[in-house]
Parts: sequence; structure tokens; C-alpha cells
Amino acid sequence: MSSSQPKAKNNLACLILAAGKGTRMYSKRAKMLHPLLGVPLASYPVERALELHASPIVAVLGYQRAEVEKALIARHGQGTVTVVEQAEQKGTGHAVRLGLAALQRWEGTVLILYGDVPLLSRETLTALVKRSRAKGALAILTAELADPHGYGRVVRDSRGRIAGVVEDKDASEDECRITEVNAGIYAAPAAFLRQATARLSPRNAQGELYLTDIIAKAATGIGVASVKVSAEEMAGINDRQQLVSVEKTLCRRIVGHWMKHATFRDPETVLVEASVTIDEDAEIGRNVVLRGRTRIGTGARIDAGCILTDTDVGAGATLLPYTVAAQSCIGPGAKVGPFAHLRPGTELGPDVHVGNYVETKKARLGRGSKANHLTYLGDTIIGEGVNVGAGTITCNYNGYEKRQTIIEDGAFIGSDTQLVAPVRVGKRAVVAAGATITEDIREGALAITRAPLKQVDGYADRVAERYANKAATKP
Ligand code: UD1
Ligand code: CA
Repeated sequence: MSSSQPKAKNNLACLILAAGKGTRMYSKRAKMLHPLLGVPLASYPVERALELHASPIVAVLGYQRAEVEKALIARHGQGTVTVVEQAEQKGTGHAVRLGLAALQRWEGTVLILYGDVPLLSRETLTALVKRSRAKGALAILTAELADPHGYGRVVRDSRGRIAGVVEDKDASEDECRITEVNAGIYAAPAAFLRQATARLSPRNAQGELYLTDIIAKAATGIGVASVKVSAEEMAGINDRQQLVSVEKTLCRRIVGHWMKHATFRDPETVLVEASVTIDEDAEIGRNVVLRGRTRIGTGARIDAGCILTDTDVGAGATLLPYTVAAQSCIGPGAKVGPFAHLRPGTELGPDVHVGNYVETKKARLGRGSKANHLTYLGDTIIGEGVNVGAGTITCNYNGYEKRQTIIEDGAFIGSDTQLVAPVRVGKRAVVAAGATITEDIREGALAITRAPLKQVDGYADRVAERYANKAATKP
């Protein structure tokens, strides 16, 4: 940590509390590392903090600290987040105290986010920060819940002003009936937080230092302001059921966004990660999964059951059902599947056809080339207008290393051919069906490796006769 903290233009710092184990996940992995729509949980508050231009961003980590820190660096780069260790989880108040120590003498507004509350919008958080600044007060997010069980309840005085928050485990019967809950997200002046968290006591049902105790302190001091948020937006993730239900909400939002200009045949069944882009007039079938940096081009059609990861689909391309592709590039107007498997490094040019039960890996196919049936193309460069017959296999691996096959423009590869790499088939060369190609084929030549065909007349009758006699003499 550097001794001089960078001063942000808008004077906003962010503390992210993410030290807990997540006991109710019953997992070997820290809750913060569980992916929510492909992104580790702990990254969500970091993304919000970055959107608000908060700096510094301090994450309080504890359980599996090293792994969580590694995941944050992988996603946000080194130095984006300052990590503070909370070796023992003594409560949210203790976590904030440690986080504040990392801010040193920094002054301004501090936004406190939880690592397990991922759906908060930028608008809501902006409103919260504004509220705190306008009143010089502690601003808290609250929500009305039909079932407030498990959450801290917001206690208001006879004039409707917030007097404090009481935790579920400490609440009286009357307090338990309060349906306004604390979302656990706050904005407050740094000076107030320092002073209020310095004197917290663990005298409560959980023996923890509750951050929520600062609310009563603010009520009799700088004042408490609140911003209302929907139940959906404040949803926290404590168990796997909530993880999946929040993932569904997030996915519905993302699909809803793209649905404005693309058709989803059955939107509820589709999974689309936030990093995906879908251009206008695209058509997405049921049970499609789009992950990572996948882009679907204008008017492309992705039929039922396709699973695409980091794959670029060109305009007007068609992916027939159950195509699986990763780190691949599919050219405009190409036609792929059903049941095609495009592995990393596949590049299909415009109007290429790759049909059923075709597997490709590090394979480049030029404009208009076709491999329509039952084929493996690995470490292969194919020119334009090439026809690869059914059952063609590039033998790219000799048990030690991968080797390359090159098929030049206009070549024709007959069915059931093995191309033993390294090997090159010249322009417009023709490989006859059933060939095993072990040397380069010259431009325009015919390559044929067929054993001579022999016919034995009357064979079927002779065999039938032999077996008929045997049956007659059976004991
Ligand atoms: C907290 C609030 C509660 C609120 C609820 C909203 C307190 C005392 N209670 O309860 O009023 O309704 O959130 O979701 O604050 N953490 C640490 N270090 C710790 C303890 C927790 O970093 O020592 C982190 C956790 O990893 C988690 C967050 O703080 O991300 C919240 O902790 P959690 O134990 O889930 O608090 P709740 O019981 O849900
Ligand atoms: Ca929680």
C-alpha cells in the first residue's frame, strides 16, 4: 500500500466487505469466488465502485484471501483494489474499522458495499452518495420485504425518523414484525465512520462488532438519511438457491436489454453473460448459452441448444442446433451444425459450411469452403472453395507434437481420407476417396492410394451352401 492515497476528483472512496466464509454455501470455496453469470461474486461491487469513479477501492478479505485477491487482480488488474486482511471475522463493524485504517487520513465520502450483494444499480448508489452529501449524514439503503426474516430491521421513531437498526437475531417480537430492512449499504463522511466504528461493542446475540450500531449513533449525531431500493435489487447471496435466483434475475435483465432489437424465441431458457454483444435482427433459439466475449452479428441465427464462449458470429451466419464453439470466429453467411464442435482457434471465412459431427481446432477455412459431415480438422489451414469429404481426418498428432495440414484453394478431398501431417495438398488437387496422404500433393494432381479392387463371383452362394450342410449334420 502506498502512503499517499490518490485523491479522486469526486472525493469518493469505497470499502467492500468480503471477508466472510459464506457458511451457508456449504462449499470448500469462499463464497466470493463463486461465479455469478461467469463472474466471481466479489467482482460485482468492484465494478460498481469503478463506475462511480471511487478511489481508492479497498476490499476487506479474510477467508481464502489469497485466492479472492488473485481473482480480483485477474479481472480488474493489479493495483485497482487495495486489499486489507481481516484474519478473524469479528463482524461488519470490525471489517469497516480495518478498511478505514487503509484509507489513513483520507477525507471525503465513503461508500460501503458488501461482497455478496451484486444487483445494485449505479443509479441507486449514486442517489445514496448524493443523499449523504446533501445532508452531511449517514445514508443507508432500505427495502420493504414481504419476508424480512434474516435481515436487520429499520427501527423508526414516532415521527418516522430512523432511530437505529436491530439485527434479526437480536430483535424483539415486535421488531421482528417490521418489514423495512437494512440493505447493508451505506454512504457516510469518512470522519464519522472513523469515530463511530472506534467504539463498537460485541454485546449482542452474535458476539460481533455490528456495523449497524453506527446507525443509532448517527441518529443522535450527524443524522440518518435513507434511500429506498427494491427487494430484487438488494438481494444478497447467502446460499446456493439465492445464487441461482439472483443469476436468473441478472440474466433476465441482460436478455431484456438485447430483446429490444433481437428475437429470443424462449427468453426464459437462455443464458447470456453481461460481456456478450448481440446485434440487431439476430435470432436466438431456446436453451442457448452465450458466454464471455461472444458477439452475435446482425441477422445471425443461433438455433436451439448452441453453447458459445468467446466466439464471434458474423452477420447473417446460421448456427444450427447444438453447435458448441469456444474462442472461434465464424464468418458472415457461414452455416454451422447441427452438432458441430468448434474448438479454440477456429476461423471460418465467409459462407463456409461446417456440418454435423465436424470437430475443428486451430483450423482456418477460407471463403466458401465446406466440410459437411463427420470430420476432424486440427492445426489446419484451408484455402477458398475447398470441399472436404465426409469422414476426413487430419492426423495432426504423432504422440509428441502437433503438426500442420495445408489444403490450398479449390482442392477436393474425397470421403474417408486421412491427411497425415505435416502435409500440403496443392491448388485444385483431387484426393480420391479412402486415401491416406503422407506426402505433399502437387497442384492440380489426382492422389489415389487405393488397393486394387478384386471381385470373386458366386461367393455368397458357396458360403451359404457350406453352412446349410453343416446345419444338417448337427447332432
Ligand atoms: C448484514 C447486516 C444486516 C443487513 C444485511 C443485508 C450487520 C451486523 N448486519 O447482515 O443488518 O440486513 O447485512 O444483507 O452488518 N463481512 C466481513 N467481515 C466480517 C463479517 C462480515 O467482511 O467480520 C462481510 C461478509 O463477507 C459479507 C458482508 O460483510 O459480504 C455482510 O456480512 P453478513 O455476515 O452476510 O451479514 P448479514 O448477517 O447478512
Ligand atoms: Ca449477507
